[in-house]
Amino acid sequence: MKYQEIIDKMTIEEKAAFLSGKGEWQTREINRLGIPSIFCSDGPHGIRKQAGAGDHLGLNESLPATCFPTAATVANSWDTELGEMLGEVLGEEAMSLGVNVLLGPGLNIKRSPLCGRNFEYFSEDPYLSGKMAASYIRGIQSKGVYACPKHFAVNSQELRRMAMNAVVDERTLREIYLTGFEIAVREGKARTIMSAYNEVNGTYANENKHLLKEILRDEWGFDGIVITDWGASNDHALGVAAGSNLEMPNPGLGSARELIVAVNSGKISEEDVDERVDELLDVVMTLYVNAQNKKETFDKEKHHDIAKRVATESAVLLKNENGILPLKKGSKVAIIGDFAFSPRYQGAGSSLVNVTRLETVTDIVSNYDLQVVGKSPGYNRNGMEDAAMKKDALDLAGKADIVLFFFGLNEDSESEGLDRTHMRIPQNQITLIQELGQVNPNLVGVISAGSAIEMPWHHYFKALLHCYLNGQAGAGASLDIITGKVNPSGKLNETIPRRLEDTSCYRYYPSRERTTEYRECIYVGYRYYEKAAIPVLYPFGFGLSYTSFSYSDLEITNEGIRVTIKNEGELDGAEIVQMYIGLPNAKVFRPEKELKGFIKVFLKAGESKVVEIPFDDKSFRYFNINTNQWEVEEGDYVIKVGASSADIRISDMIHVEGTTDIFPYCEDNLKSYYSGKIENVPDAEFEELLGRVIPDGKWNGLLSENDAFCQMYYAKSGLARLVYKKLTAMKKKAEESGKPDLNTLFIYNMPFRAMAKMTGGAVDMEMVHGIVKIVNGHFFRGLGQVISGYFRNNSKNKAYEKLLARER
Ligand code: BGC
Repeated sequence: MKYQEIIDKMTIEEKAAFLSGKGEWQTREINRLGIPSIFCSDGPHGIRKQAGAGDHLGLNESLPATCFPTAATVANSWDTELGEMLGEVLGEEAMSLGVNVLLGPGLNIKRSPLCGRNFEYFSEDPYLSGKMAASYIRGIQSKGVYACPKHFAVNSQELRRMAMNAVVDERTLREIYLTGFEIAVREGKARTIMSAYNEVNGTYANENKHLLKEILRDEWGFDGIVITDWGASNDHALGVAAGSNLEMPNPGLGSARELIVAVNSGKISEEDVDERVDELLDVVMTLYVNAQNKKETFDKEKHHDIAKRVATESAVLLKNENGILPLKKGSKVAIIGDFAFSPRYQGAGSSLVNVTRLETVTDIVSNYDLQVVGKSPGYNRNGMEDAAMKKDALDLAGKADIVLFFFGLNEDSESEGLDRTHMRIPQNQITLIQELGQVNPNLVGVISAGSAIEMPWHHYFKALLHCYLNGQAGAGASLDIITGKVNPSGKLNETIPRRLEDTSCYRYYPSRERTTEYRECIYVGYRYYEKAAIPVLYPFGFGLSYTSFSYSDLEITNEGIRVTIKNEGELDGAEIVQMYIGLPNAKVFRPEKELKGFIKVFLKAGESKVVEIPFDDKSFRYFNINTNQWEVEEGDYVIKVGASSADIRISDMIHVEGTTDIFPYCEDNLKSYYSGKIENVPDAEFEELLGRVIPDGKWNGLLSENDAFCQMYYAKSGLARLVYKKLTAMKKKAEESGKPDLNTLFIYNMPFRAMAKMTGGAVDMEMVHGIVKIVNGHFFRGLGQVISGYFRNNSKNKAYEKLLARER
């Protein structure tokens, strides 16, 4: 071990204490051995360094930092160089703000458009997610700060996120939910990773040896540290034995005591503890050295400009009838929509950034060569109808040649801690769109939303620009594109389906029981729509430009492809060339085709270039559950190259040799998966896929330490049911107010055990056991345990603190 000398000097109390956090964001220092403390902060699209009281939900203010577009936005750029540059800037800001570990990027798969945190995630596709994440990580870590890709793994649902068991077959786990992390770790060389709240196949992600040891460390060669999500630790000792290093945020010394008991009883070995300490020491010591002589400031203006550039390259032009965009110079426009006055530019929750400055369309539109006839909010962003507001907007629309309408999802639609229940934008916006369309046919829509939305109203628009959540400089980015200063080049990182009912996990998501069953298997996003021949509104990889590109001369070798791309139009522009691979008549069921490579190429008007996209270890592989490894099926693979998943311009075949004769499936027993009709997979078939019995997700009456507060609905104790009712009423009230109450949401979905993990030592697990007894109807027994536990916890904490305060 690298730090054997220090470890030899550490007492077991010091080792155990070192493996859990000291406060909301810091690790514990051990002064007598010269071990410093390091600081972690969210987040993925801007730094959220709380200088004062820490909370992890974005409630207390943080130091001003640049708010860049969120991951869901940047993924539309398909530009790994841009991602790396953004990572560098994030790293630079983090360093200057005294942050050593940046808690991001988030790269969970967008299993359903409903997931409340999709705005923080890259894509429905693991390859694109992984490549983008790796680029951020390279950039961040080049500045001496460590990135912390999250949430590892299968954390695609917010509802009861801390008390949910993801039931997923091994192949889907590997191909869909882990491949992005594999790329992030192997290519991005992430030095830390965050374990998710949920269980994966019955074991908490943070205790999951299969995930943390067999796959992450042994297969992928990860040599950094695993940090728990905030409050995600269940049994710290099992976590440490499985390869998890740092329990966050602040369990006090309760978790450390549990660790010592576990070592003394032989539940885990001291070698395991030493290894985790060694890995953590390596990270802490390196980060501490990296931060010496750091710059204390960053260039706010420069970073604002970078935020704008990233937003510009990430916007997706969905529609542009009769070339209405770019607007001609001096066009007579009406600016309508509350988002033009007060943009929706980031999501709610732990990723919330306190901006250095915020641009709005209404403030800066005068910098553009447009004749603005007026500006009107048009709708209430909280969804309430307002006839006077609407009339004002309609009157204004009548006076202009073109209406620029800024709209989309409001704040309470998408947030950490909640999943959407539908994919619609607020009805008052839809009504306004319909009426604006009657008044003025030249309607140009600018959408802000962090995830896919239903667009049954899209035919009202001549043009639609999807800006996702584009950060503090997003206003200028959208106006640059609308006026043609920049030619749009973004392409969708996810499919926009026609309706929610068309999504593959519609019937399985979000699960309301203890388990969430991933019955749709590998059929996520375009993998499903294509296989099941479901028409979509805008396909994965789609996006328009003001110019057009042609594809020719596809050449395939064993190393990869070469193809010529020509800019056929009169404007310079960039094209995202996508390579998909499929195996017609495959023996092992699979999607029609899958993304296996892409490149963004900038071409001047009339220019052509030969671009190369290499094959890699992921090009032809599938995970074989019988050989328990990646294999290649022999066959004639089709290589499809195109401008989107639905716009393949050129294709050819290549024969690839197989790697095994061992076949994983019995086709007759997996008919849904062979046909792709996975909307109603029967139990027997899902069990065949899983290779085991489906775990029972129902509640059996008694609640446990791992059940969430919202399960008190089932509690035996009337008092607990009352608390449940109160919490539900608070949640409902917040929902009605149009602003998510993150505290209530967090508690609502939080398991009882988290009280011992997040209260800085005020509550320990013994007290939690008492509380659970009360909930289960044993009031006096439970109360007795809570009270005696309180005194015991206090005195044990004091004794432990004394041991840690030793000077030598
Ligand atoms: C979120 C993480 C975040 C952490 C710290 C958790 O609730 O899931 O993404 O990094 O809080 O704020």
